[in-house]
Amino acid sequence: MPNTADISPNIIFPLPEVPPPVAIKNALPEELFREVQDIIGALDWGPGSSDKYHSIASRWSQNVQFRPEINDAMLSIAKEAFQDDELELAFYYTVRYQMHEGNIPYLWTHMDQNGCQHTIDLCVIKHKLDDWGLYVDDQLFSEEENQAICMSSCQQSHGRPPYPSRDPEAYLVVLFGIYTKPGHWWRDLDGTEESFMEAIDKYRWDGDIRYAEYAGNAPYFNDLPPENKECQAYAPKECHECWTIPEEMLNEKIERNKKINGF
Ligand SMILES: [Fe+2]
Repeated sequence: MPNTADISPNIIFPLPEVPPPVAIKNALPEELFREVQDIIGALDWGPGSSDKYHSIASRWSQNVQFRPEINDAMLSIAKEAFQDDELELAFYYTVRYQMHEGNIPYLWTHMDQNGCQHTIDLCVIKHKLDDWGLYVDDQLFSEEENQAICMSSCQQSHGRPPYPSRDPEAYLVVLFGIYTKPGHWWRDLDGTEESFMEAIDKYRWDGDIRYAEYAGNAPYFNDLPPENKECQAYAPKECHECWTIPEEMLNEKIERNKKINGF
């Protein structure tokens, strides 16, 4: 197995080696999974809602919280899959991929910029949709309700194959649980928006630089469906969630990281 630990001087916050991705069927006990489905199913999003659609990522996205029993069950999945008893939940968010105003769901191959270490991708609702799986380091995992794809999304490249449907009513809802190890900078945040934004601004380029060193190029929208329009969620502001860097900007970011690291 290749060593996935960071050794590059261009990375500000090096991450240790991670285990390979795994998929766990029937991950949550049935009763808890139904509760997760009910909570997320009741969110005010989707066609006709006032929630902004992210047209580049072709999805709606919201933060979500659960009661302790669900948090504990999710954390147990994470601890087992990532072979680490000291993991802590950083945050959850949930997304609904769906065609909207002609935009076609699309997920380019990338590594995450959110700065955390491990991600559970839990399929919550698959509605009128054939499988739209997830490649993690070239291994294709299917999205099946209550299946948890456990990956280290900052260190394992991931993306999805072409969207399998043109039915505007079809959609896929996924819950992301993001986890950190002890010592991670995320655990030092004080809970304010200011400290979060400051840390994200400092560390977020690690994800793109890591991907570039792995793949030989920056992540970019190389096959964005022509039907997809400018992102309405963040435009004209810079998008922290779905924006990715043009290759020509990569060297500038590497030089910036080197300077912060004292190189
Ligand atoms: Fe990702």
